[in-house]
Amino acid sequence: MIWRSKPIGLALVGCGNIGRVHAQAMQRNKRCRLLSVFDPERERAEQIAREFSAKHVTADFKTILEDPEAEGVVLATPHHVHLEQTLQALDAGKHVFVEKPMALDAEQARQMYERAQSLDRRLLVGQVMRFWPNVQKAREAIQAGRIGCLRHIIRRRLVYQRDTGRGWAYDPSKTGGWLIHGNTVHEVDALLYMTGLKVTHIQAMATRNNPIWNDIDELSAVLRFGDGIICSLTLSLNSHVTSLETTLVGDEGSIFLRDCHRGYALNGQWETLGDNMGFGDQLMDFIRAAREGKHSRVDAEAVLPTMHVLDSLRRSACEK
Ligand SMILES: NC(=O)c1ccc[n+]([C@@H]2O[C@H](COP(=O)([O-])OP(=O)(O)OC[C@H]3O[C@@H](n4cnc5c(N)ncnc54)[C@H](O)[C@@H]3O)[C@@H](O)[C@H]2O)c1
Repeated sequence: MIWRSKPIGLALVGCGNIGRVHAQAMQRNKRCRLLSVFDPERERAEQIAREFSAKHVTADFKTILEDPEAEGVVLATPHHVHLEQTLQALDAGKHVFVEKPMALDAEQARQMYERAQSLDRRLLVGQVMRFWPNVQKAREAIQAGRIGCLRHIIRRRLVYQRDTGRGWAYDPSKTGGWLIHGNTVHEVDALLYMTGLKVTHIQAMATRNNPIWNDIDELSAVLRFGDGIICSLTLSLNSHVTSLETTLVGDEGSIFLRDCHRGYALNGQWETLGDNMGFGDQLMDFIRAAREGKHSRVDAEAVLPTMHVLDSLRRSACEK
């Protein structure tokens, strides 16, 4: 289909690591245009504006919302401002794409979702793993019954994230806890998306390894999905060996995922899928949602259960 209408105008808030990734995706997409950028560190905003030909660098967040040409706002900011910035942008009549985690807890996420509903604006959340080729393929295989009935899931995300380059990442009042809201959020969301199931039971244990995180930084949890499917979920922020792997065991077959977004095996038959981290597809969903009212796999409503699981994980992990 040829896209005939004017490109949608977008504003970018937060010009750090992922803000740059969003600006790159916008540059490659002819159906949108980066109009204005804001970051309290002005030189970051100016750099992004120069590189990606944005029209304006604004002096504050409020001003960015005053541009009538900007139909959508992309929030690539620290977790503790997601609630307030989302509500303000929705109130200003904008459609909003907010980075993961949607908010600091499920209650905040509910408020954001309800505000978007009441104002008839679209709210999407940056759970980009839903667009990863191997996650998508696993979901399709499970739905098609290719491994029979799912029985057991083993998921591991072991990383060494000591030097994130983000000062706020070490402050749990700004992150909600980096292990849970920075990392586990991706894992839980991908599991819910792949299986299409609800989590019915959670038991977690956590410990503190490196004081830099000011919070739990090692987690082992057992989750029950749906009717009798068990899942073990293990995360570390301090592992000198990186491991991002998932095994999905069914009664008639198994799926194995590795190599970030690319590695996929069904019953031991390996495929290396396309090199697509999903940011372009995610942006396209935001444009279609804003312009055509289309549903997205990362609609706020679809992500709310993830926020509930994160709350339960933290509660369980912090029980004495
Ligand atoms: N989807 C993914 O794969 C992925 C990857 C990395 C980060 N993220 C998420 O993206 C968000 C940003 O992370 P990052 O890695 O880009 O962090 P970052 O620190 O690199 O960038 C954040 C930027 O926001 C700016 N900022 C701080 N307070 C602000 C405010 N009140 N208003 C506007 N800008 C403000 C900072 O100056 C900084 O430039 C977080 O929610 C993070 O969890 C998602």
